[in-house]
Amino acid sequence: MSSQIKQFSVQAPSNIAFIKYWGKHGRQLPNNPSLSMTLKKCVTKFDVQYELTEINQPCVDFLFEGEIKIPFKERIENYLMSIDDIYPLAKKLKLQIESSNSFPHSAGIASSASAMAALGHSLAYIEAITENKSVDDLPRRASFLARLASGSACRSLEGPFVVWGKSIVANSSDEYGLVLDNVHPVFTGLKDSVLIVSKTQKSVSSSTGHQLMNGHFYSEGRKVQAQENFRTLLAALTNGNLKDFGEIIENEALSLHALMMSSYPSYILLAPESLQLIQEIRKGREETGLPMYFTIDAGPNIHLIYPAEQADQVRNFIVERLQEYCVDIIHDEAGCGVVRVNG
Ligand code: PMV
Repeated sequence: MSSQIKQFSVQAPSNIAFIKYWGKHGRQLPNNPSLSMTLKKCVTKFDVQYELTEINQPCVDFLFEGEIKIPFKERIENYLMSIDDIYPLAKKLKLQIESSNSFPHSAGIASSASAMAALGHSLAYIEAITENKSVDDLPRRASFLARLASGSACRSLEGPFVVWGKSIVANSSDEYGLVLDNVHPVFTGLKDSVLIVSKTQKSVSSSTGHQLMNGHFYSEGRKVQAQENFRTLLAALTNGNLKDFGEIIENEALSLHALMMSSYPSYILLAPESLQLIQEIRKGREETGLPMYFTIDAGPNIHLIYPAEQADQVRNFIVERLQEYCVDIIHDEAGCGVVRVNG
């Protein structure tokens, strides 16, 4: 086996879920199908150097924006140990990763999704090169590996819309994300302006949130609701029905937070400004007729989603009515997933 050091760079985006993955079982398998939009500008870059050794233990050096990050190094090493049975190179890998984000650290953008998608792609690529395999199957293998590191990361490998979890979409699977075909052109270049109301780290992690869905009073109801919302959203995306699209994504966002508020122990991640923004968006939509809708991740920040065609008017609305509640705003849009260079 070659012990030559090789290198490449990977750029992976974050994603925002329209149908939320909330609750899991087994080996990082989702309790319900989810559907997301891959972002374009919010990306994590990995500069990777690797070598295969006979040490029989993964060895990772991890730097984030020039600083050594021991917790992340340990997280990746533990993850590699845990996938030894499905990724035979795991214990031979000596990895050096220099990572950086295009978006401000702790801006509430899912940086674990972009980082773990970058990791999943890196591992799938190393495997394909080492075993002289075709890279045609890379996105699926990369998504499978990313999922085992952080569930929602499996939806960041491709874009612009990705389905994860067994659903009515042909070939969809609990094990990896799949690009959604036949989306109506009204959704081409869909915008996401992330209205950041707080940059403080969230008080309860997503893994704790997923765990709290076990035995949750509404867990069975949530599965039924997600399936139904998924079906309606899929039809809206296919037919170009913006009104149904908006109704479903707002319902999903509020349902996610309602599940947090009604778990034991319960918790609230929304801030007063999150609610003010929601009210302003709904009021402004009534007044202006603009097709702009919100979704929310596991945090207080509001993602305002709108078609490319109305971008100028919505941007004006943001400046006039929403900006005062925000500490920062990131204007992003639908993107196509992972890009690799020098490899
Ligand atoms: O991938 P995780 O384990 O960080 O969970 C993410 C869950 C949500 O972001 C709240 C919803 C989703 O589908 O992305």
